[in-house]
Amino acid sequence: MEVQAPTLPPELERATWTLYRDFFDLAEKKRRWRIADDIPWDQCNPALKPVVADVVETFCAVELYLPDYSAKILPLVRNSKGRAWFYANWGYEESKHSLALGDWLLKSGHRTEEYMADMEKKVFEREWNLPQDNHLGMLVYAMVQEEATFVNYRNLRERAKVLGGDPALEKLLNYLAVDEKAHHRFFRDCLKLYLDHDRPAVIEQLRRVMNDFQMPAIHDLLDESPKRVAAIRELELFDADSYFREIYLPILTDLGVSRQEMRSPIREKKSLRIS
Ligand SMILES: [Fe+2]
Ligand SMILES: [Fe+2]
Repeated sequence: MEVQAPTLPPELERATWTLYRDFFDLAEKKRRWRIADDIPWDQCNPALKPVVADVVETFCAVELYLPDYSAKILPLVRNSKGRAWFYANWGYEESKHSLALGDWLLKSGHRTEEYMADMEKKVFEREWNLPQDNHLGMLVYAMVQEEATFVNYRNLRERAKVLGGDPALEKLLNYLAVDEKAHHRFFRDCLKLYLDHDRPAVIEQLRRVMNDFQMPAIHDLLDESPKRVAAIRELELFDADSYFREIYLPILTDLGVSRQEMRSPIREKKSLRIS
């Protein structure tokens, strides 16, 4: 896949860098947490409904593709110091997510060391590839993916509460949800800068990515993906309706983009032909 690193006008790059510094300073001040000390590991619940652990395992596996996520996105953003530095910090935060989820699966007794080693091996046998071929498409994709991940973790925490309760898992999912929301906001604010700079180019990518969004790592990469998706459905974590209500529409509102603008020109032509 041919990928192009952006070369931004200096004022846009300066604004991106300011966004990153504000993001980083806020993260250092308010959002840092420690796996070893900040989660009540002695309050794991081995009797929690097993489907919750199945979904935790799926999310842990998705987070384990981190080496591919980082390695493939960095060349695409290397001309933007703001975006490149963001990804360095992002990688640190995401690395904690799979560690924390994996620790919970072991400490709660829902999985064994052998099982986890086998699962990791299967994950690393496959390779994740960029779902979009250009930096703007990836910015849109990341903005949506982070928000979708936020919704999933927030909902999983709520389900864990009612399906037996697990203070350790609930606390860690809360940390993860807060991190994902912060990632979403950075990508969204970054995209706003590009929107002011070249609105048609951004709208084109919003259409391509958002009108046809899937959680690809779950669908394409993981073993037994139908079973994993069924568990996510059973817990009613995420579906097309919640995507539309909680992600699609709020993002358009935040960006100041209308649903009219999101209609594809091809579809408009088709409907003209029919009438
Ligand atoms: Fe994450
Ligand atoms: Fe994230």
